[in-house]
Amino acid sequence: MAFSRTMLSSVVLALFSLVAVGQAQLSTTFYSSSCPTALSIVRQQVDSILASNPNLAGGLQRLHFHDCFVRGCDASVLLFSASSTNQEKDAQPNQNSLRGFQQIDQVNSALEAACPGVVSCADILAIVARDATVKAGGQTWPVLLGRRDGTVSLASEALAALPSPLLNLGQLIQNFAAVGLNASDMIVLSGAHTFGRARCGPVLNRLYNFNGVNGQTDPSMDSTLAANLKKQCPPNEVTTIITMDSSPNVFDRTY
Ligand code: HEM
Ligand SMILES: *[C@@H]1O[C@H](CO)[C@@H](O)[C@H](O)[C@H]1NC(C)=O
Repeated sequence: MAFSRTMLSSVVLALFSLVAVGQAQLSTTFYSSSCPTALSIVRQQVDSILASNPNLAGGLQRLHFHDCFVRGCDASVLLFSASSTNQEKDAQPNQNSLRGFQQIDQVNSALEAACPGVVSCADILAIVARDATVKAGGQTWPVLLGRRDGTVSLASEALAALPSPLLNLGQLIQNFAAVGLNASDMIVLSGAHTFGRARCGPVLNRLYNFNGVNGQTDPSMDSTLAANLKKQCPPNEVTTIITMDSSPNVFDRTY
């Protein structure tokens, strides 16, 4: 049977209604009757997690970012399969880098004890990211709730969608445009690097092999910063941990 114009319009219409329904359901009060304590439970859990590990705030926030860039904010970053090592968390930008999985499980357990089967993991990631940022000194924002959890998680999609640290400005703008964010959004969101930590790996190229030239440092880098990073990250020192800035536990304006 030929694919008629009418069929095409009904398919398109159906798609739009799905999108419309999905969005209409999102609300800050989504759990106010099904799990009225959800938000306070998450906040208490985040408080206690950060009290014993204040350096994890950045890690918890980044989980939400890496979740949202791949298939939308659907908790696909959390999916674990005993038979696959090809899921989002196994992708190069995530492996040995994302932190806080165990703590997200802990928050989930607390919610399950109070309201079994109610709060989605995607919403947990979104609320935890907000609460961790606020606890670290950042401003708050309203979190729309009612996201559904996905069931598909592919390393290939994470690798394609997440921005590589080797991208230039134009490529970064393009990468964010792919998820509906513009250049201003990209710059503002990059301010998230005011807290948390990194490995030396992603900066080694700019310190010692810029543009593939052995020994060359990126000339556009602040020279004090470059010297400081070289001290912490000798050549080939891939896994050594460095801090994002001088106040890695605080969401502030030193960045
Ligand atoms: C603009 C493109 C971006 C690039 C290329 C980028 C790249 C990176 C890299 C390479 C690391 C260090 C990972 C490691 O060495 O293990 C990192 C860490 C981090 N990123 Fe980004 N990022 C970007 C955007 C964002 C955005 C939009 C957010 C959140 C809104 C974010 C939040 C963080 C946080 C909080 C950390 C520290 C994680 C921790 O403490 O475990 N980043 N990022
Ligand atoms: C980017 O989008 C935001 C929010 O939609 C808007 O306020 C801002 O003006 C836009 N910036 C650019 C450079 O288009």
